[in-house]
Amino acid sequence: MEINYVNSVFEQMTLEEKIAQLIQLTRDFYQADSKKVSLTGPMDEMGINKAVVHNSGSVINAIGARDVIKIQREHLKNNRLGIPLLFMGDIVHGYRTIFPVPLAIGCSWDMDLAEASAAIAAREASAAGLHVTFAPMVDLVRDPRWGRVMESTGEDPYLNSLFARAFVRGFQGSQLNDNTRVVACVKHFAAYGAPEGGRDYNTVDMSERQLRESYLPAYKAALDEGCEMVMTSFNTVDGIPVTGNTHLLRDILRGEWGFDGVLISDWGSVKELIPHGVAVDESEAANKAMQAGVDIEMMTPCYVNNLKELVENGALDETLIDEAVLRILNLKHKLGLFENPYRGADEKLEQEILLCEPHRQAARELAAKSCVLLKNENVLPLQKHQKIALIGPFAQNSDILGPWSIYGSQTEAVQLYDGLKGKVDPSQLFAAKGCDIQTGTHEQVEEAVQTAREADVIVLALGENSEMSGEAGSRADIRLPNVQLELIAKLKQLNKPMVAVLFNGRPLDLHGVIENVDSILEAWFPGTEGGSAIADILFGDTNPSGRLTMSFPYSVGQIPVYYNHFNTGRPKNAPQAQERYVSQYLDIPNEPLFPFGFGLSYTTFSYGEVNLSAEYVTEEEPLIVSVEVTNTGRVEGEEVIQLYIRDMVGSVVRPLKELKGFQKISLRPGETKNIEFRITVDQLSYYHPDLQYKSDLGAFSVFVGPNSRDVSALRFELRNSSSDCSAK
Ligand code: BGC
Repeated sequence: MEINYVNSVFEQMTLEEKIAQLIQLTRDFYQADSKKVSLTGPMDEMGINKAVVHNSGSVINAIGARDVIKIQREHLKNNRLGIPLLFMGDIVHGYRTIFPVPLAIGCSWDMDLAEASAAIAAREASAAGLHVTFAPMVDLVRDPRWGRVMESTGEDPYLNSLFARAFVRGFQGSQLNDNTRVVACVKHFAAYGAPEGGRDYNTVDMSERQLRESYLPAYKAALDEGCEMVMTSFNTVDGIPVTGNTHLLRDILRGEWGFDGVLISDWGSVKELIPHGVAVDESEAANKAMQAGVDIEMMTPCYVNNLKELVENGALDETLIDEAVLRILNLKHKLGLFENPYRGADEKLEQEILLCEPHRQAARELAAKSCVLLKNENVLPLQKHQKIALIGPFAQNSDILGPWSIYGSQTEAVQLYDGLKGKVDPSQLFAAKGCDIQTGTHEQVEEAVQTAREADVIVLALGENSEMSGEAGSRADIRLPNVQLELIAKLKQLNKPMVAVLFNGRPLDLHGVIENVDSILEAWFPGTEGGSAIADILFGDTNPSGRLTMSFPYSVGQIPVYYNHFNTGRPKNAPQAQERYVSQYLDIPNEPLFPFGFGLSYTTFSYGEVNLSAEYVTEEEPLIVSVEVTNTGRVEGEEVIQLYIRDMVGSVVRPLKELKGFQKISLRPGETKNIEFRITVDQLSYYHPDLQYKSDLGAFSVFVGPNSRDVSALRFELRNSSSDCSAK
C-alpha cells in the first residue's frame, strides 16, 4: 500500500474528521455499544459527542488482544473512512513479565540486556494489541526527592543516551511492520527531570547551555535511533510550559533536529496551559499547543472543541492541522494498520508468551545484574549451612514490581522469602515482618527479635512501597521510614551479622542503615523475578556487578548532588584552600555517600598503570588510553571500567569529570585483561557561549577507574596537529 493511499484517505476527510484524529481517549469511550457502560458521563464532562469518538485517532490504556480487536472492529464500523485506531499505553519496564525499574536497569550498564528487555516487553504488548508504548523515559535526573527518578537511567547524559538508543532498538526493532514490535515514544521532552525542589510537575528553569549539554542529548539519541514519537513534558522551561513552547518544539525538535514524527502531549498538558497561566481558556490553550507543533492531545478536549473555530476566525492556519493529521495517518500506515488493523493482537499468542519461562529467565538475569552491592563487611555471600532470619516488611511482600507495572501482577512476583527458600533447607530459614512499611507495633518488633535470636545471620528486607516513588511520588525526607530504622536499631542489639536488602525507587539517605549493618544490597524494584534474582546474589550464585548511575546523597541537604559538577572558584580540597571560605557545608561532607559508578563485587579488581598512546590528540590521530585490570579475588566477576575526562580550561566552565566511555568485562580469578579506550576530538566538544558545539585546544585530564571517585588521572592535550606545540 502506497503513501498515496494515505493521501487519498486524507483528501476525503472533513475538517471535523481531521480534528477528531488529534484527540486521544481512554478505552471507556469506546464501549458505547456495551450495555453495561454509559458513555454520557465522560463525554459530557469533555463536552464531546459520539461523532468525535467515532472519528478519534488513538486510544490510551486499552490493552489485551480480545479488547483491542473488539474496540477496533466496532470503531471501523463507525468510522466513515475506515481509519483504524492507534492503541497506545505505558509499557515502561515490561508488560506482563516485569523487569526491574529503569533506574535499576541503568545500574546494569548493559545495553544488550536493556535492549532485550524492551524487545520482550514489545513482544508481549504487541500480542496484546498495543501499537505504541510511552517509553523510553530518558529524563536526566539529579534529585532523588523526585519520585520519577526510578523511570530514568540516571544522572549521566552519555549513559542515558546509550540506554535511550538500546530501549528504542528493543521496542521498535528494525521494521515497524514487524508485528512483534511496538513504536517507541520518547518522553518527557524536555527536562522534566529537573523540577525545583524535586516536587513533581514543578518549575524547571535552566540555561540553554545546560539544557543542551546535559538534558537534551538522550532525547536526541532516541530520535537518532529512529524513535517514531515524542511526548511533551508537564513542566515549564524558561517560563513557558513545554506543551506550548515553540522554541523547544518547533525550533529545536522539529527544526534543528528535523523530527517529523508524531508529537503527543502528556496527559492533560494542553489544558494545563490554563493553570500554568499562559492561556486564558481552552481555545487559547489549543491554539498555543497547535502552534508549537503538538499533534495529539491526550485526554483533554481543547483541540476538538476549539480548532475549527480557530481556523474559521483566522487565528490558526489549517495547514497546521493537516500536517498533524498526515503525521498520524502516516504512522498508522507505517504500522500496516490500513491493511491489518488488528496487527499483532492475538489471543492465542498471548496465552503462549505472556510470562513464559524464557521471559521470566530474562527478567531474572537483568534483575540480578541491576542489584548494586553498596557495602560488604565479610557477610555476603551467605553460606548454605547458615541459619537465616529474614526480617522486614519486604520479607514476604510482592510489592516489588515498582511503579508503571500496570499489566504485571503482584501475585506472579517471586517474593524474597520464596527466592531464598529455593536455595536452602526451609528449616534454616525463619521469617518475621518486624514492621510494616510505614507503621509498626511493639509485638511485631518482639516477634522479629525472637525470630532473629535463632539465626546465624539476619537478612533485613527493607524499603519503600511502590506508591512512595513514581509519578506524584516526591518525598522531602528520603530516609527509610522511622519504623524501619527503629527495627534495625533493635536488631543490632543482638550483635549478629546483618545484611540489608533495599527495595526502593530512588537513591535513599542511608542514615540509620549504613552504620548499623554489615552489608547493603540495593535491589531497587526488581520486577517479577526479584526474589529469585536477589537470592542468586545473596548466595553468590551470581556475583553482583551493578554500578550506581545516580549518586546516593550523604543527606538530603546536598541535593542536587551529582558527579559531573563544577569546581567553583573556591574548591574545598585545593592546595591553598582556606579553612572556612571555601565551597562546603559546615555540617556534612560535599561528597555523596556513594558516587556515580560505584558498586562492589564478591571479588576484587586491581588496576595497573594507565597509559596514553601519546601526549596529545588531534583530528587525525585519536588517543588510545589503556589499562590492565586483574581479578585479584577468588571468584569470577564483572567489572565496569570507566573513563572520564575534564577540559581544564574552557570558554565556559567544564565539569570536573564527564563519562566518555566504559567497558564491562568478566574476569576469572587471576585473569588480567588489557582495556583500551579511544578518545577522539569529537568527544571533547561542548557548547560555547554562542552555543556552538566545538572543542578547544589545550589541556585535558583523563581519569580511569572503577567509579567516578576512585580514579587515576593523566594529562593530555588537544592539538591542531602532531607537530603543534602551541596549545596552552
Ligand atoms: C505521565 C506519562 C504517561 C501518561 C500516560 C502521564 O501522567 O506523565 O509518563 O505516559 O500519563 O499514562
